[in-house]
Amino acid sequence: MPRTPRTAIRGGLLVTATDETPADVLIEDGRVAALAAPGSAYAAGWTAERTIDATGRYVVPGGVDGHTHMELPFGGTYASDTFETGTRAAAWGGTTTIVDFAVQTRGRTLREGLDAWHAKADGRCAIDYAFHMILSDVHEGTLKEMDLLVSEGVTSFKLFMAYPGVFYSDDGQILRAMQRAAGNAGLIMMHAENGIAIDVLVEQALAEGRTDPRHHGEVRRALLESEATHRAVQLARVADCPLYVVHVSAQEAVAELARARDLGLPVFGETCPQYLYLSADNLAEPDFEGAKYVCSTPLRPREHQAALWRALRTDDLQVVSTDHCPFCFTGQKELGRGDFSKIPNGLPGVEHRMDLLHQAVVDGRISRRRWIELACAAPARMFGLYPRKGTIAPGSDADIVVYDPAARQTLSAADHHMNVDYSAYEGRQVTGQVRTVLSRGEVVLDERRYTGRAGHGRYLPRDPCQYLT
Ligand code: URP
Ligand code: ZN
Ligand code: ZN
Repeated sequence: MPRTPRTAIRGGLLVTATDETPADVLIEDGRVAALAAPGSAYAAGWTAERTIDATGRYVVPGGVDGHTHMELPFGGTYASDTFETGTRAAAWGGTTTIVDFAVQTRGRTLREGLDAWHAKADGRCAIDYAFHMILSDVHEGTLKEMDLLVSEGVTSFKLFMAYPGVFYSDDGQILRAMQRAAGNAGLIMMHAENGIAIDVLVEQALAEGRTDPRHHGEVRRALLESEATHRAVQLARVADCPLYVVHVSAQEAVAELARARDLGLPVFGETCPQYLYLSADNLAEPDFEGAKYVCSTPLRPREHQAALWRALRTDDLQVVSTDHCPFCFTGQKELGRGDFSKIPNGLPGVEHRMDLLHQAVVDGRISRRRWIELACAAPARMFGLYPRKGTIAPGSDADIVVYDPAARQTLSAADHHMNVDYSAYEGRQVTGQVRTVLSRGEVVLDERRYTGRAGHGRYLPRDPCQYLT
């Protein structure tokens, strides 16, 4: 393994979830060796083989995206980013760790699913990666395997209250998995939508000729997200287990989480940039363009966004991840022409999360430190990777982004790096841009020139959720 050169990042404003201070960052053997007052380390005789000038820029931790789906099989096709293309795009966007979802296929073991995901990712990632495990077939054998996986560093399990016949678990299966997680320190992640009721509404809509993409949003009613969220919280209380609700989009679901947290329950939630910036208006775009925005939970009417932003400020939601799950418009989203239920669910976004959240800083919605909390520190803690990831502190991996807060850019499929033929944010102007990215001390993006490589990224076994210890 080649040694990474002793590196200094000089002259920037260091921003972590807890501090903002002008500081030089000194890097040795891929880790942060020290933080120093500007210029002081050099004055004291510290030498660097490589110096990165961060004058006028922020120096922030690499992003931790706790929810991605590279190569996910869905709806008869596969998410279009491989681990190679998706992690490269993540690096371009300042994300240096992803936690992707390995899938248990029905009738198969967790081990088989996990091995299959290792085989997809091994030797291909540009940045470090870890896995959650999707449980699609909860039975006694699955429950036993959960213990083994936790002991190996796969410490979180996603269950689905949606997608009957595919990923769906019933309440009994959910309760059993939660009881097991309560005993083995696993974290249950929940896709909270009442899929049984949604499927009735889907059938009725199609029978009435309501086949356009916008009906995807209409049948997946906010009430069916909040009902499922409420049910998940109550089941977690019965099992005495922590709960993390993924891709929260409805204000009513946020209210359920806030109520649970007000009771002091170990209930957590994430939302995603698409729910903060896009809306049901996009789903209603004509000529089937709305298919580009089909994901579940669905985009909601714009009015829901204020509740999401508020929850991000008040900590009723702790994490922003992307749920990156791209499908090309041509040939993939098009599978659902004439039947919205056949449009593969998911949006591309792994490249844009850091920038879109920085835009919220520019817009005065969140502070700089909250930006880093939501995008780096909280997901690292939630998924047992802190302080190795999610911060810049002595001993941490030198996963570092040099960020220009004043650069202006226009997001577009014309120059993004995700392997997908459209951008959900086409034409959106944002202020702020990732300039240089280090992953374990190796420069993978150098003033917007890609210098990374497939295979640099390492698999990360994880500790249990660090909000509970
Ligand atoms: O539409 C989505 N979210 N696709 C990815 C699978 C999931 O439910 O997270
Ligand atoms: Zn989901
Ligand atoms: Zn997802």
